[in-house]
Amino acid sequence: MSAPRIPRTLQRIIEAQPTSDGAGVKLRRSLGRSQSERLDPFLMLDEFSSSDPNDYIAGFPAHPHRGFETVTYLIDGHMLHEDHLGHRGDLKSGAVQWMSAGRGIVHSEMPQQERGRMRGFQLWINLPAREKMKPAGYRDIDPSEIPTVELPGGGRAKVIAGALELPGRSVPGPVQGLATDPLYLDVELPARASFTHPVKGEYNALIYVFEGGASVGPAKEAKQLATHNAGVLVSGDQVEISAGPEGARFLLLAGRPLGEPVVQYGPFVMNTREEIEQAISDYKSGEFTRASAA
Ligand code: FE2
Repeated sequence: MSAPRIPRTLQRIIEAQPTSDGAGVKLRRSLGRSQSERLDPFLMLDEFSSSDPNDYIAGFPAHPHRGFETVTYLIDGHMLHEDHLGHRGDLKSGAVQWMSAGRGIVHSEMPQQERGRMRGFQLWINLPAREKMKPAGYRDIDPSEIPTVELPGGGRAKVIAGALELPGRSVPGPVQGLATDPLYLDVELPARASFTHPVKGEYNALIYVFEGGASVGPAKEAKQLATHNAGVLVSGDQVEISAGPEGARFLLLAGRPLGEPVVQYGPFVMNTREEIEQAISDYKSGEFTRASAA
């Protein structure tokens, strides 16, 4: 018999704050709203959701990144990204772009719709020191590559990275084998349904609720997590989540912490101040756009 699993309860709640980024895209930032609100290896989590084109149409014109990965999950809408290496990808509803900036990329992320709802997430995941200067690379993941799995207790989960673990069954998502070994699930539960999922004990984990509300933790210690709130979980090896009366939709994210110093200057995330200064100087000198692809 295996040892009983240790449940993870909520350690703290990070309320997403309305902000804007790019050329004026309105979004809600939870992780990364300040430099103390990170959860190694996760640096930032933005939710964008609006049916008003004025909130998104300006998009994110050309801008640089170095030293980490950006993961864009588009739930509703249509977005085009292009980078200085000539990659061009057309993200449609349900698609994911997994971009590893490595030593440098200059790209744009521009909505391709003039009306209707634009909704999705951008997550920033740190790279280990040894990978921060690798060549840039990225992957466009079509919705057809993302498994959608009916859950035994009701509802469904989409598996973007890592694997959905159900009793007697493991469903891997399209993204595997990264140093931070991320788990990225989009879970939708009907009212009062429960979902239990293992999370490796040494990994950091959080839940971000974007529809309805949920209670997190075993029944007697459960705490509520409302819409647009990120809940950071204590250590343990299992998470138990129950949807409230309106049901719940949330991201479950977990990853292997890097345990390395983080020095961030806007879109550059390195380990030391000197490396940040180098990034700024390389960007100014055009070194980023001379860099070649993976
Ligand atoms: Fe970007």
